Amino acid sequence: MMKSPSQNIEERRYHKVATVDEIAPGSGKKVEIGDNEIAIFHFNGEFYAIDDLCPHRGAPLSEGFLEAGKVFCPWHCFDFILRTGECVTVPSLHVQAYEVKVEGEDVFVLCRG
Ligand code: FES
Repeated sequence: MMKSPSQNIEERRYHKVATVDEIAPGSGKKVEIGDNEIAIFHFNGEFYAIDDLCPHRGAPLSEGFLEAGKVFCPWHCFDFILRTGECVTVPSLHVQAYEVKVEGEDVFVLCRG
């Protein structure tokens, strides 16, 4: 059965979000894919993607501090595991994590939009 264009928009696919050298090691960058605001991080040679909005009071996690595989929220320092989006400080405040792949110099995130 054929899918309508609106159904196709909802399918997950890889979106190019940056080149490798656009996100310095130890830092993050906010990107928008459709309605999603996603924080991309470059940590220890790997790239990670989680929701940018901190579920505590709405800070941009992309501006947080990276350490030990986690991002610490810039406002109140709740810590989120980059790989899974789990909040260590308050486990009920987890955020969504997205699959990331790097091809050549390009960084891609798997999500709807
Ligand atoms: S807004 Fe992120 S910990 Fe408070």
